[in-house]
Amino acid sequence: MWEFYKSDMVQTYLIKTFHGLEGVLSEELLSLGGKEIVQLNRAVSCKGNQEMAYRINYECRTALSVLLPIKSGRVSDEDELYQFVYDIEWYHHFTLEKSFWIDVTCFSNRFRNTLYVAQKCKDAVADRFRSKYHKRPSARKDSDLRINIYISDDECVVSLDLTGRPLFHRGYRIFKGEAPINEVLACGLLKLSGWVPDTVLVDPMCGSGTFLIEAALLGLNRPCQQLRSNFALMHYLDYNRRLWESIKDEADHEDRDIELSLLGMDIDRQMMRFARKNAMGIDLHMINWKSKDFFEWRPEEEAGCIIINPPYDERLSLEDAIEFYRRLGDHLKQNCAGWQAWIISSNLEALKHIGLKTSKRIKVFNGPLECRFVGIDLY
Ligand SMILES: C[S@@+](CC[C@H](N)C(=O)[O-])C[C@H]1O[C@@H](n2cnc3c(N)ncnc32)[C@H](O)[C@@H]1O
Repeated sequence: MWEFYKSDMVQTYLIKTFHGLEGVLSEELLSLGGKEIVQLNRAVSCKGNQEMAYRINYECRTALSVLLPIKSGRVSDEDELYQFVYDIEWYHHFTLEKSFWIDVTCFSNRFRNTLYVAQKCKDAVADRFRSKYHKRPSARKDSDLRINIYISDDECVVSLDLTGRPLFHRGYRIFKGEAPINEVLACGLLKLSGWVPDTVLVDPMCGSGTFLIEAALLGLNRPCQQLRSNFALMHYLDYNRRLWESIKDEADHEDRDIELSLLGMDIDRQMMRFARKNAMGIDLHMINWKSKDFFEWRPEEEAGCIIINPPYDERLSLEDAIEFYRRLGDHLKQNCAGWQAWIISSNLEALKHIGLKTSKRIKVFNGPLECRFVGIDLY
């Protein structure tokens, strides 16, 4: 039988994440059984077997997708690329009944038109099937399977995407506002902040509640993909249903017995309804939600962690961004001594006006927006 079918075979996987989260992802991969972990740019590679790849998909909180590279080599133009992709025996990986899609990441002057590259690769896969069965699988954007083509100059790596829709599609955020933070990013920032589940966490501008929902899942040690049922790995020929179900059963144990202290607030009542509904939808009843203006809030506890994703004056506009951030800093300084605050914003100019000394500054991206995640110890 083909090597590909051996679930205990150790292979190298590439796990994609956001810029700035490579370190926290590496720690997660280590705890999930990854070996020979190497941090790359927006990705981490590690070795492991099929079980590890399944665990990453189901349990890893800071991964976006899991790729299995199956071929690498040099290609100098589109025709060579076509042949390179055609030479893979695709029918050993999936059947005609499955649909597929090609994702291209290209850093090369030789291949300037990524749409054309994707088209060529799509033809190569389809033609290879046709050569054997006189039929081809359909190619659709919302397909079961995704094939990843990475080109850097003349080096090409072809990978099977074992995830499909990226892992931030957790399934709980049904209701959201104009500027929700990505779920994977939110969890990664929580980990970067050093928040530990037995301490108080407050998100005073919580919008749809992403930080607090991620924090609750983390604190309870509940898998973040419990609501999701479709992963690309289920559509390949080597899918081991028994293995997947045993990993799921093991991970879906009872919640950790822990008292969490989580408070979400927002000035917008509609947002509070959204956050509450999102949390209820995933059976998280321990988060306190209050509709409140941050500038009127005074913490009851003496210490804890405040995490804030304020409007950046991009998708959510502010009348006077500099004044808003200045007030934010003043309010923290005057009312939250003993706490640690973390703020993420792409408004680097306004961030300067917080007027508090930052103990940490981490560059991250919220979608296309370059942001800083700044930590402040409030004395
Ligand atoms: C960028 S959004 C937060 C998005 C959130 N992290 C999420 O994942 O949905 C900023 C939020 O700050 C809220 N906000 C703005 N001014 C506020 C204030 N003075 N007090 C409390 N919330 C405020 C807005 O209503 C908005 O929901």
